[in-house]
Amino acid sequence: MTIVSSDIQLASSFLKEGKLVAIPTETVYGLAANIFDEAAVKGIFKLKERPLFNPLIVHIHNLAQLEELANELPEKAKQLAAAFWPGELTLVVKKKEIVPDLITAGKDTVAIRMPKHTLVRELLQQIDFPLAAPSANPSGSISPTNAERVKEYFDGILPMVLDGGSCSSGIESTIIGFEGEEAILYRLGAISIEEIEKEIGPVKQNTTNDSSPEAPGMLLKHYSPKTSLILSTDIKKTLGKFFNKKIGVLVFSNALESSSILHQEVLSETANFKEAAANIYEALQRLDHANLDIILAEKLPDKDLGKSLNDRLVRAAAKD
Ligand code: TXA
Ligand code: MG
Repeated sequence: MTIVSSDIQLASSFLKEGKLVAIPTETVYGLAANIFDEAAVKGIFKLKERPLFNPLIVHIHNLAQLEELANELPEKAKQLAAAFWPGELTLVVKKKEIVPDLITAGKDTVAIRMPKHTLVRELLQQIDFPLAAPSANPSGSISPTNAERVKEYFDGILPMVLDGGSCSSGIESTIIGFEGEEAILYRLGAISIEEIEKEIGPVKQNTTNDSSPEAPGMLLKHYSPKTSLILSTDIKKTLGKFFNKKIGVLVFSNALESSSILHQEVLSETANFKEAAANIYEALQRLDHANLDIILAEKLPDKDLGKSLNDRLVRAAAKD
């Protein structure tokens, strides 16, 4: 049985014993272990069926921990940390010797994030080690944004989910790396690129590449429901092309009226990107549980967080 509870004490003793605990963050739930416990970290890869070449994000709660793990930071990394930590930003920076190769997949960089969810901050303060935590889903599937979805994925094989309610941001952190002093976007996420550029100026963007060695986890097919998903820029027209199928629809703000739709999810009636982000993974989960033949998803306006949400939908629509 997987324990679902908000008992920080219990979560902290499990982690100290080398057990895995799913943790709430403001982005998505993570599957956490002590970064210095090799057996426990191996357990994360095994449970998620994650390839060992895909490195993990390290979660910290203060800047002293950052100093322990990272070498001299680029100026822009410092500016971004000051502006967005604690929060939905991951920085990929040169690692110190102490960071195990298993965490970084042998790279000389480490991805670090300081989450702001109060439960996980309290937990990180209680234990004296940073936590490695990828999203708490089997590799390639939809990231969980509440404790129940984590339990659904790993019931009986994961000791505990620390229940921190629904994730307020709802999609993963934005990942920024560096080439010398130049900032590079590795993954679109919960902080828009516009917000990042307001702090540090232009950021090089090259996240579309399927097999970029810079961000090994950014495979095209990802965040995928089991039901096939089609992404459309003209959803009414696309809907008209399907007959005799059990159809589900995901739209940004305007519901479609059609008797051929069995299940419809509206991400934000007020066309608010933040609300849409907070809802998107649960909406996909509900659609995926509705016993449909096909999910038709509407492409969002390609700006601000709309870009990040479109990134997830493109990957959710990708075939093997
Ligand atoms: O919001 C988030 O970032 C969530 C929560 C739990 O913190 N975590 C998350 O982890 O999304 P995961 O493992 O699902 O995605 C981490 C991404 C992967 O694409 C991985 O390849 C990339 O970060 N990554 C990790 N370390 C890296 C490194 N040293 N260089 C480049 N990319 C790295
Ligand atoms: Mg993930």
